[in-house]
Amino acid sequence: MTSFPKVSNGARRLLVRRGSLALVSTLVALAPIFVGCKKPEEKKAEPTPEPAPTAVKAPVTETQLPPLPKVPEVPIPEDNPQSEAKIALGKKLFFDKRLSVDGSMSCYSCHLDENGNGGATPRAVGPKNVQLPRHSPTLWNVGFLPALYWDGRAASLEAQALGAWGGANMGVGADNLDKKAQEIAKLPEYKAAFAEVFPGEKIGKDHVAKALASYERTLVCNDTAFDKFAAGDKSALSDSARAGLELFMGKAMCVACHAPPHFTTAAMGAGAFFNTGVGTKDVPEDQVDIGRMKVTERDADWAAFKPPTLRNVSRSAPYFHDGHAATLREAVMFMASGGYDNKNKSPLLSDKKLTDTEIDQLVSFLEALECPGRLSGD
Ligand code: HEC
Ligand code: HEC
Repeated sequence: MTSFPKVSNGARRLLVRRGSLALVSTLVALAPIFVGCKKPEEKKAEPTPEPAPTAVKAPVTETQLPPLPKVPEVPIPEDNPQSEAKIALGKKLFFDKRLSVDGSMSCYSCHLDENGNGGATPRAVGPKNVQLPRHSPTLWNVGFLPALYWDGRAASLEAQALGAWGGANMGVGADNLDKKAQEIAKLPEYKAAFAEVFPGEKIGKDHVAKALASYERTLVCNDTAFDKFAAGDKSALSDSARAGLELFMGKAMCVACHAPPHFTTAAMGAGAFFNTGVGTKDVPEDQVDIGRMKVTERDADWAAFKPPTLRNVSRSAPYFHDGHAATLREAVMFMASGGYDNKNKSPLLSDKKLTDTEIDQLVSFLEALECPGRLSGD
């Protein structure tokens, strides 16, 4: 990796000291972005000195920005190829309340279009009013994530669908899924579709999960104002949004965990998880949601969570895994001011001492990530 710039090496050493391989590989994956960020002639001492906050920003010039990656084709697993009929079946299932234990909720009930395709409430509420511990995330570009859920405990969309369907989200119970799948597949409006998509197969839970996952892989957001800008339409972003983009990629260093094109490093390599302090403030240590640590059992993952995609973020309030931030500005302020200190906070998060204007510019930029697509059962 000869082209690794000085700044990244410094950051890499810092991470190696913390012994977090996942973070190192994230940073390695980010190398091209950092290369792009830095003008080659610059030889700054480490660590990079914090520039003084400036209230007014000159419009962003093209040369100040690294190359902005485009959203690629969504990866399709070999054992679940896409087909029109399977996607249509998955879509029908996604919007069907009969999938839940008591007919009260569909997948869509917690991933609503009007909530940016995440949840309405800070934490999700399942059938029979069961309170769930976390907020429902947006599903845009979910097909690019190597590990699903805030803690990455599901390795595929198929596995995630079984988890959501069998668990408290839908209340069916993992042991009852095959029976439920057979019931659904027998309904007159499903019979022909299952027979066409899975000819000659005895329908069970995996068929439902495959169809749901196929549909979810079509939830691609790749035509935002930002994408138009990245493709060369310089008028696609307002001056404020362009200044926000420069901050995002530079001084505010949001890019370290929310790298384009999906605006999350969780879409890179094996995924990425960071402790930002969300859910640790004023909570007794033994009651903190330990997030990724529950999956890996590593202390380094204590209260670490997946950085969500920021696509469509302006429409998906409330924010964070505990849904505690009601507005986008509040969420941005939290991140830009370094999160909550705790015993495991990521060294990539620090107070960037941004002015109010700069926070506004970041918010304007995030508004330019609004996805034009809509979720609808029609
Ligand atoms: C009761 C509300 C609720 C219902 C119903 C629900 N979900 Fe979710 N969904 C959530 C919550 C909450 C999370 C995050 C849970 C966590 O991380 O522990 C989530 C996470 C997800 C994720 C992971 C997203 C990511 O960024 O990692 C996917 C995919 C998903 N749900 C799809 C589905 C599908 C498919 C169904 C129907 C089978 C469904 N959901 C039903 C609340 C719900
Ligand atoms: C150290 C990695 C890291 C950095 C740097 C970082 N974030 Fe985050 N961000 C996260 C993680 C992790 C979450 C989820 C935290 C949680 O809920 O536990 C998150 C959540 C968010 C959310 C809420 C999204 C949602 O759907 O709930 C927004 C908005 C956000 N970040 C914006 C920013 C901005 C703007 C910056 C730069 C000022 C930034 N982040 C810098 C890791 C980071």
